[in-house]
Amino acid sequence: MSGILIKGAKTLLPGNEIRECDICIEGGRIIGVNNVPAGFCADRIIEGADRLVMPGLINCHTHSYMAFMRSAADDVPFMDWLFKGVSPIEDNMTDEDAYWGACLAIIEMMRTGTTCFSDMQMNPGMTSKAVLESGMRAVISRGLVGSGNDEGGRMRLDQTYREMEEFKDCDRLSFMLGPHAPYTCDEEYLKIVASEAKEHGMGIHIHLSESVSEIDQINEKYGCTPIALAERTGIFDSRCVAAHCVQLKDGDIEIMKDHNVSVVTNPASNMKLGNGFCPVPELLEAGVNVCLGTDGAASNNRLNMFSEMELLSLIHKGTHRSPVCVSAKETLDIATINGAKALGLESEIGSVEEGKKADLAIIDLKRPALQPENDIVSELVYCAGGYEVDTVIIDGEITMENGRILTLDEEEVYSHTAAIMRRIRG
Ligand code: NI
Repeated sequence: MSGILIKGAKTLLPGNEIRECDICIEGGRIIGVNNVPAGFCADRIIEGADRLVMPGLINCHTHSYMAFMRSAADDVPFMDWLFKGVSPIEDNMTDEDAYWGACLAIIEMMRTGTTCFSDMQMNPGMTSKAVLESGMRAVISRGLVGSGNDEGGRMRLDQTYREMEEFKDCDRLSFMLGPHAPYTCDEEYLKIVASEAKEHGMGIHIHLSESVSEIDQINEKYGCTPIALAERTGIFDSRCVAAHCVQLKDGDIEIMKDHNVSVVTNPASNMKLGNGFCPVPELLEAGVNVCLGTDGAASNNRLNMFSEMELLSLIHKGTHRSPVCVSAKETLDIATINGAKALGLESEIGSVEEGKKADLAIIDLKRPALQPENDIVSELVYCAGGYEVDTVIIDGEITMENGRILTLDEEEVYSHTAAIMRRIRG
């Protein structure tokens, strides 16, 4: 077997300590950090001078197919955004469109250091196909909508299982059940999803407590909060990743802590759609696992985890009037190891450690915003724009090298996504 040696690069290690390291990669994994195992033979050497190796970022909530809808419905009220902007495009898109959207999303994520994302999709198989071809890692949820045991809800669950079977040989792909939200899935359907998740040992990916109108609607229908509804349907009895959690009420945080629910905060999307701020400092204080996501490009409009990290830290400092709130170190953990924990992959990804998968972003430090290197951890969160990433390794394979994506044809993706919007808008 042959491998990759990254030679003498500053490396972001667990605990956000930076040290100069030689990193040996073989068989998809990091097999040595400043320790060359006997018999290791590097057929590729990456020079580490002026570079930083960090764990690839983990985007825990997105809808990759939406990438071609970027900036198609901005600065309009939420219901206009959804029903006049996004829905008409979704009604006219094909499975193939969703594939090209996912490719565009993957290019943007890879270029900005994301090596794993958790996707809620509408077109079965399409994100998985793009992940398979691009060398990315992803956790896929087919967005589930249903009431009681209606046919549509059953069909969408079965599509999840079929897709799992179809892609079972790709170990960069894993799957969760994705009940969309309590306002699109009724109580009975949530119970069915919860019981199947338990039966199959699968995690759950859901939107919860995103907006005031959702809180009002669920309270009127069920007399409780979306979080309490999720608890009583059994949604929290499996490993659950809850996106947004912006509008939390008394008792919600305790429920999530008791059930080890992970919260994905999506600061840009929540601000852009006028929904507010997830109480991240309070969740962290209570010991809830908080991770980070971009949400889809129709509501962010970037899929750039570096800009998301900066926002995350700054908005809570601002809203809490506290410069010590959500530090750079906490932010980096939220974007890496906490994401791995949320997805049940913490023994495989989320840090640069021997034995873990080699999912790495290599950053060019000779960029103005990263100089001088007074505090690299701070500079990653408060200064980097994301496009300082120049090489990406996922599952031990180089997918981007010196700024060039090796696995997808970028021009082809751009021309397809432009053509999709020309066709849909007529
Ligand atoms: Ni979402």
